[in-house]
Amino acid sequence: GFGQLPRDKTLDNTFALLCEGYHFIQNRCRRFHSDIFETRLFGERVLCMSGKEAAKLFYDTERFQRKGAAPKRIQKTLFGENGVQTMDDAAHKHRKLLFMSLMTPERLKVLADLTLEQWEAAIGKWEAMDQVVLFDEVQDMLCRIACQWAGVPLEETEVKQRASDFGTMIDAFGGVGPRYWSGKRARARAEEWIRGMIEHIRSFKLNVPKDTAAYAMAWHRDINGMLLDTQMAAVELINILRPIVAIATYITFGALALHEHPECREKLRSNENQYVHMFVQEIRRFYPFGPFLGARVKNDFTWKQIRFIKGTLVLLDIYGINHDSRLWEKPYEFRPERFKDWSGNLFDFVPQGGGDYYQGHRCAGEWLTVEIMKTSFDFLTKHIEYQVPDQDLRYSLVRVPTLPNSRFAISNVRRKN
Ligand code: HEM
Repeated sequence: GFGQLPRDKTLDNTFALLCEGYHFIQNRCRRFHSDIFETRLFGERVLCMSGKEAAKLFYDTERFQRKGAAPKRIQKTLFGENGVQTMDDAAHKHRKLLFMSLMTPERLKVLADLTLEQWEAAIGKWEAMDQVVLFDEVQDMLCRIACQWAGVPLEETEVKQRASDFGTMIDAFGGVGPRYWSGKRARARAEEWIRGMIEHIRSFKLNVPKDTAAYAMAWHRDINGMLLDTQMAAVELINILRPIVAIATYITFGALALHEHPECREKLRSNENQYVHMFVQEIRRFYPFGPFLGARVKNDFTWKQIRFIKGTLVLLDIYGINHDSRLWEKPYEFRPERFKDWSGNLFDFVPQGGGDYYQGHRCAGEWLTVEIMKTSFDFLTKHIEYQVPDQDLRYSLVRVPTLPNSRFAISNVRRKN
C-alpha cells in the first residue's frame, strides 16, 4: 500500500544494498508495509518503489526523466556515455525509433537462422570436448551471432576477446573496485574497435547491408538532421551488440531450469500450447538479472499523498515486481504454465522494463531476446543430449548480476537424432 512515506533511518544504505542485492527493496517494503520508502544510497536521498502501480508511475514520462539518473560508473561500463538510456522527450523518441526499426519480423527471422547455425556448429565442436562450460561457450556463440546480425565483421580469432569484453561490461554493473575497473577497460577496447567500424563504413571502406544495425547507426541522423559523432554511433551500435551477448545469462538459467525440472524437457519437445513461449517467459520472470531501474523526478508532484521533489532519484524494483505475490501466485515457484492464460499488462512483467517501447525506455531488444531464447531451448531439448556432472549450481541473490557458480558445465555432448 501507500500513504505515508517510511524512512530508513540509517545514515547511508549503500553497504546494505551491496549485502542484500536483489532483495534490498523488497526487504524494506515488507518491513515498512509500504510500496514506497525513503533511504540514502550513494550519498543522496533516494525513493525506492515496488508494485504495479509504482511501475505505472515510473513510466510516466511527464513525471520522470532519465537525464542524470544513471550514475557515470554505470555509463562507463554497461551503457556507454550519453546513449539512448539517458535521453528524454522528443530526442529520446527519435533515437528509440532507430533501435525499434531494426526489430522487424524479417530481421528477427534472420536472427533465429543465425542462432540455429551457431548451435549446429557448437554440437560438432562440443562432441569432441570432455566438458563444456555452457555460459562461456554461449557467450562466444552470441557474440558471433550479434556481430553477424549487426553487420560487424569479426574474425574467428577475435571472438574470445570481444565476447569476453562484452561479458565484462555486463558483469561490471553491480561491481565496485576491480570489477568496475575491468568493465571500464573492456568498454574502452570495444568502443575503439567499433569507432573504427563506423569510420570505415562512413568512408566506404566497409560495405554493410542497408538493413543492419551497423549501417543504421553509421548513417542515422539525429533530431536536428546531423550524423551522430563517431563515438556516439559506436556507443549505440554497442547497445545492440552487448545485450545480445547478455542473453547467455538467460540461456544458462534455462539450462539450469531444465536440469532442476526435468519434466519441462518433455513439454518443450512436444511444445503443446506453445510451451516454449511460456518457458521463456518464466525464465525471464523467475531468474534474477536486472535488480532495479532509476529515474529522476522531472517536476514536483504529489502522488498518493507523497511528495516527489524535482531531481530526486527514484528506483523501481523490477526484480521485486516479477516476484510480487499480489501479481504472481507462489512467485518463488518455477512454473511456466502460469503464462498459459496470462493476460499480461505493461507494468507487471518487467524483466526488461515496462510500459511502451516507443514512448518510454522499455528494452528495445525484448522480442529479439525471446526469439533467441526460443530457438536455443528448442534446440537444446530436441537436438542435443548431454550429462550434467556434479558441480556447484547455486547462484547468489546478493551478487548483481548473478549466475550459477559453475556457469553450468555439461559433458558427453551428443547429437540427438
Ligand atoms: C533497455 C533488460 C536484451 C537493447 C533495457 C532495460 C532493461 C533491459 C531492464 C531498461 C528499461 C528501462 O530503463 O525502463 C534487458 C535484458 C536483456 C536485454 C535482461 C536480456 C539479456 C537486450 C537486447 C537488446 C537490448 C538483446 C538489443 C539488441 C536495449 C536498449 C535499451 C534497453 C537499446 C534502452 C532503451 C531505452 O532507453 O529507451 N534492457 N535487455 N536489450 N535494452 Fe535491453
